[in-house]
Amino acid sequence: MSILGIFLVLPVLNGFSMKEYCHKKDFSCEQPFFYEQGKLEFGRCSSINVLRRLSRLGMIDCVRECLVTSQCKGINYRPDWQMCDVVGEIISKDLGPEDGCVHSNISTWPESLAGECRNYDCVDGEKCLFEDYKVRCEQVYCVNNPNADNAISDEKFGHHKNLGAGLKFRCNDGYKLQGHPYSFCMHSGRWETKFRCILNGTEISNEFPKDCSDLPKGSNSGVYVVRTNIKVFCDMDTDSGGWTVIQHRFNGMQTFEKSWHEYKTGFGDVSGEFWLGNDNLHAILSQREYKMRVDLEYFDGNNALAVYSGFSVGNESTGYKLSISGYSGTAGDGMTDFSQNSLNGMSFSTADRNQDMSDVHDCADYKRSGWWHRDCTKGNINGLYRPGEQGNDVMHWRTLNGKYSLSMTRMMIKPASI
Ligand SMILES: *[C@@H]1O[C@H](CO)[C@@H](O)[C@H](O)[C@H]1NC(C)=O
Ligand SMILES: *[C@@H]1O[C@H](CO)[C@@H](O)[C@H](O)[C@H]1NC(C)=O
Ligand SMILES: *[C@@H]1O[C@H](CO)[C@@H](O)[C@H](O)[C@H]1NC(C)=O
Repeated sequence: MSILGIFLVLPVLNGFSMKEYCHKKDFSCEQPFFYEQGKLEFGRCSSINVLRRLSRLGMIDCVRECLVTSQCKGINYRPDWQMCDVVGEIISKDLGPEDGCVHSNISTWPESLAGECRNYDCVDGEKCLFEDYKVRCEQVYCVNNPNADNAISDEKFGHHKNLGAGLKFRCNDGYKLQGHPYSFCMHSGRWETKFRCILNGTEISNEFPKDCSDLPKGSNSGVYVVRTNIKVFCDMDTDSGGWTVIQHRFNGMQTFEKSWHEYKTGFGDVSGEFWLGNDNLHAILSQREYKMRVDLEYFDGNNALAVYSGFSVGNESTGYKLSISGYSGTAGDGMTDFSQNSLNGMSFSTADRNQDMSDVHDCADYKRSGWWHRDCTKGNINGLYRPGEQGNDVMHWRTLNGKYSLSMTRMMIKPASI
């Protein structure tokens, strides 16, 4: 084809010349007739069944991506952003008006643009690549749609299915969100949806357990998510199971000398040593009436427990005020033992926020622990992990074994009625 020929056939469509419409520097787009240009529809695009969304791609490269992607039937192209949608099966009425967007039916383009991949089929979810002189397939999008009932995509141009993408959703009118409004196309090719939309006016359902006691019978001990977003360790073995563990120490790997903020949000690893976090405690404990169990162990293997039949923690504005009552057990009552020293009604203290009632000590500092200190406490189980030592600041339970260091402590909660 001569240069003159090129200018003569320069396409003019609906008053657009290709040049006007193409992103600057995208020469393959300005002169698509080199490739027997396919049919373009200006100002109409599809926001459904987008298999892949690719940015900073020229238009002919976009066509090429469609030709090598399994199930691709067309493209949406937005030259302003050089944004390319590889679109699956749609019907003509799925094309809605959209300024500046162009749709093209892939069947109107020559297959030769796919190069070595032109006669090579990959299965759903894959694209064909030609690399190192070999043709192969690679997964690039999730085949199915995410499980997002009663929700619609909150993505400006509709959702796509790129492998590794996280898409935002919003609930339909009349529905309320439970969880985080995202669904992720995982590298396994499966979606992981982090939310549900439930009918406004209905109770938060039990699909997310309120606590470990809501897990199905026979569930194993392990890490679960409760109350939509709180990761907890569930003890499903001790005393008929259903316990949500809120504190655990057994090797001293995790320091408990932490700030107000760290006690607020929690620290450590719920399958190792950790504090669940005062906000999480408040959130879980405000759902029902709870009991709390403390398990204690010494380095010589001695062990004991303390159970409180009432246990709750206020919100941060109350200083995470503790309500605790009803001791029973074998360890002695290290938390409410007598009226002058009961932690009932106390706010939480940390080294950087003293809310205790001691005239002489700054308890969190003196006992080296975040706790509901009064003056200060007999159950200092957030103190220092110091095998073989004793002292005010080591982790101890005075009513059981003075101020000798414990080797293991675990606090866990369960609905009072179970
Ligand atoms: C694309 O072109 C093919 C072949 O002409 C046709 O069967 C199909 O309906 C077209 N798709 C759309 C969305 O117009
Ligand atoms: C749910 O209902 C309440 C009370 O009628 C209303 O204030 C709220 O905006 C509704 N939320 C949604 C998501 O419709
Ligand atoms: C915190 O709890 C108190 C007492 O229950 C309540 O009056 C207050 O409104 C709560 N504050 C917040 C921010 O929720």
